[in-house]
Amino acid sequence: MMNTTPVLEVRNLTRIHGRGCDLCRTSTGDAAGTNTCPHCGSVVAIADVSFDLWPGEILGLMGESGSGKSSVVRLLHLDDRPTAGTARFQEAPGFSHDLAAIDEAVARRLRDTRFGMVHQNPHLGLNFGVSAGGNIAERLLCAGERSYAAIRALAGGLLVRTEIPRHRMDHQPGAFSGGMQQRLQIARAIAPSPGLLFLDEVTTGLDLSVQARILDLILELQRELGAAMIVVSHDLGVIRLLAQRTLVLRHGRVVEAGLTDQILEDPQHPYTQQLVGAAL
Ligand SMILES: Nc1ncnc2c1ncn2[C@@H]1O[C@H](COP(=O)(O)OP(=O)(O)OP(=O)(O)O)[C@@H](O)[C@H]1O
Ligand SMILES: [Mg+2]
Repeated sequence: MMNTTPVLEVRNLTRIHGRGCDLCRTSTGDAAGTNTCPHCGSVVAIADVSFDLWPGEILGLMGESGSGKSSVVRLLHLDDRPTAGTARFQEAPGFSHDLAAIDEAVARRLRDTRFGMVHQNPHLGLNFGVSAGGNIAERLLCAGERSYAAIRALAGGLLVRTEIPRHRMDHQPGAFSGGMQQRLQIARAIAPSPGLLFLDEVTTGLDLSVQARILDLILELQRELGAAMIVVSHDLGVIRLLAQRTLVLRHGRVVEAGLTDQILEDPQHPYTQQLVGAAL
């Protein structure tokens, strides 16, 4: 698997909300026990986050509420811009972009064609004003598909692929169950066959049986599409099932990183030990 160049090379990615000061980084983080700078009140959402993501790999992000998981995903999905650091995205062999310094037109093209995002809150990821088919069609249009017949056929196929009955194509997402809304988000996310998928708490709040089917679907899609994924969850069961490698975040810092099985079997950092202990 790990033969070529990473899909993502993230180095010292940092996002500070507020005016920031010289002491922000040293007075926040794991040792300080806070992400809020006591000198200027800025919030260090993440600081010095570094990792590689390889083609076809699923990387887990875990950590308590407020630890910075969604911040990492928002920056990489180009919904927000970092205060410092770099994130090199390899679009094709020999052709890469620094996501930290990208112009908005390229950002839009990458979001439309190369990235897919599934939000915890389906209201952020779906357009509730149009039908299920329309939600997928929007993505296909953004990715450059122009033929009505092709769009309808592709949308129908994606609905079936994500186990949404085709006859529900013209229903609005508001009429769907929570599990179906998440599957529709997945269908919308994968519509342009992106190489990189972000899944932020995709199964949180769903029934266990519904969760299990969505997790199976994600693993099947990984095999079919070969897409690399970043999976955010505070549920260690989800991380264990999906992610080969995992980063543990606390107060915006990576406090532990490695193979998921190793982290969950033999956590090194006291915080990870506490997280794993609490989940037993
Ligand atoms: N726009 C913003 N302005 C100020 N602070 C922000 C902003 N966005 C995020 N933060 C802060 O950054 C920190 C990290 O937030 P983030 O959403 O990344 O956490 P998270 O790990 O995803 O948490 P959760 O599990 O609750 O979703 C939090 O302290 C949050 O309050
Ligand atoms: Mg979050």
